[in-house]
Amino acid sequence: MSQTDLAGHAVAILRENDRGGYTVPTRGLYPFQWNWDSCLTALGQRHFDESRAWTEIETLFAHQWPDGMVPHIVFHRPDAGYFPGPEVWATGRPVPTSGITQPPVAGFAIRRLWERAADRAAADARAGALVERVAAWHRWFHAARDPDGEGLVAIIHPWESGRDNSVDWDIPFERVPADGIAPYTRRDTQHADPAHRPTKAQYDRYLWLLERFRALGWDNARLHDASPFRVVDPGFNAILIRSAADLAELAAALGMDAAAAESRALAARGLAALEGLWSAAHGQYLARDRVTGRLIDSASSGGLLPAFAAIPPARAAALAARVEAQGRRVRFVVPSHDPADPRFDARRYWRGPVWLVVNYMIADGLARAGQAEAAARITADSLDLIRASGFAEYYDPTDGAPLGGGSFTWTAAMVLEFLARA
Ligand code: GLC
Repeated sequence: MSQTDLAGHAVAILRENDRGGYTVPTRGLYPFQWNWDSCLTALGQRHFDESRAWTEIETLFAHQWPDGMVPHIVFHRPDAGYFPGPEVWATGRPVPTSGITQPPVAGFAIRRLWERAADRAAADARAGALVERVAAWHRWFHAARDPDGEGLVAIIHPWESGRDNSVDWDIPFERVPADGIAPYTRRDTQHADPAHRPTKAQYDRYLWLLERFRALGWDNARLHDASPFRVVDPGFNAILIRSAADLAELAAALGMDAAAAESRALAARGLAALEGLWSAAHGQYLARDRVTGRLIDSASSGGLLPAFAAIPPARAAALAARVEAQGRRVRFVVPSHDPADPRFDARRYWRGPVWLVVNYMIADGLARAGQAEAAARITADSLDLIRASGFAEYYDPTDGAPLGGGSFTWTAAMVLEFLARA
């Protein structure tokens, strides 16, 4: 496939999955609007319809909760093909949503849309209207998910990380019971190969947490301390830090000085605290179990994602070296788990496969840090995967086999971004 054919195909997927003001990740498997999918999708849409790209993010923020949280799913219209649906979450929102959040990449996405916009007047107005909403979300994180003021925020459900079944969560998950949950039928395994999805033991625990939070009335003042699962994910925090830093730049450029100062301070505090997640032994960052206070021995792509934030140059160089070392073990970087670790599982979702959104954020950060070679390797591998296997949800890093859902929205969006860079 030529570059033009690739781009054309990517645009066709984004149009096909467009449901009006929002885009579904893929038909069947994910029939609603997902939070970080939408923000990254807008970056693809900007290449052919800038106005539509702004709408994607505006629709998401129209469903922000009064406390500032932006939910991980917005259930715009009923669809029986997905579990757990709105009746299970029962969050009581006017348009039903889930009750947890997802990686806050909106600040980054909005700044990028604004910076590269062709229609300046529209970009100023539409970005300006979003700044306060994003700032409120970031403020919510620090209030609800960092009650002791450590500078880093915790996730209280693996789905919040966006890396649902990562090895990172195995140890903290041992504390989550599975008994007493209502009987249920999974729908994901009807759309995709069960061998490439989370296990039943994991699913039971995802639902146990959901039911626990629901029993507490989705009151974010109580959920953090009440959750047996509280983990500080380096990838999640790096995305929040990058978004806060980008929001600060955007706000400053738009003359919103108070928002700029607040966001700048959040980013600086987060960056300083992130150092506490560095593992010299692993040559990368690790997640911290906030219940035990211990770092979790699991070298996942979540620990490489800090490249996306303005980490010290020596750390960025070390992460670039990790990517290059992994690239000698597998054909396609960046695997979601270290292929040298016996827990690496090439085809099971976030326990080994490559995901283009993670590749994009790591490559963006490494390029910014001057690690051009590692960034170029990630870009080249990402486009090679598409040429070999089409626009899948994720890929086997050893042979490039396409896995999970097909005609996948954020994969298509990332291809347009990678092509623009290449
Ligand atoms: C899966 C992924 C998550 C993504 C969602 C929709 O749950 O793990 O990151 O947002 O699918 O694509």
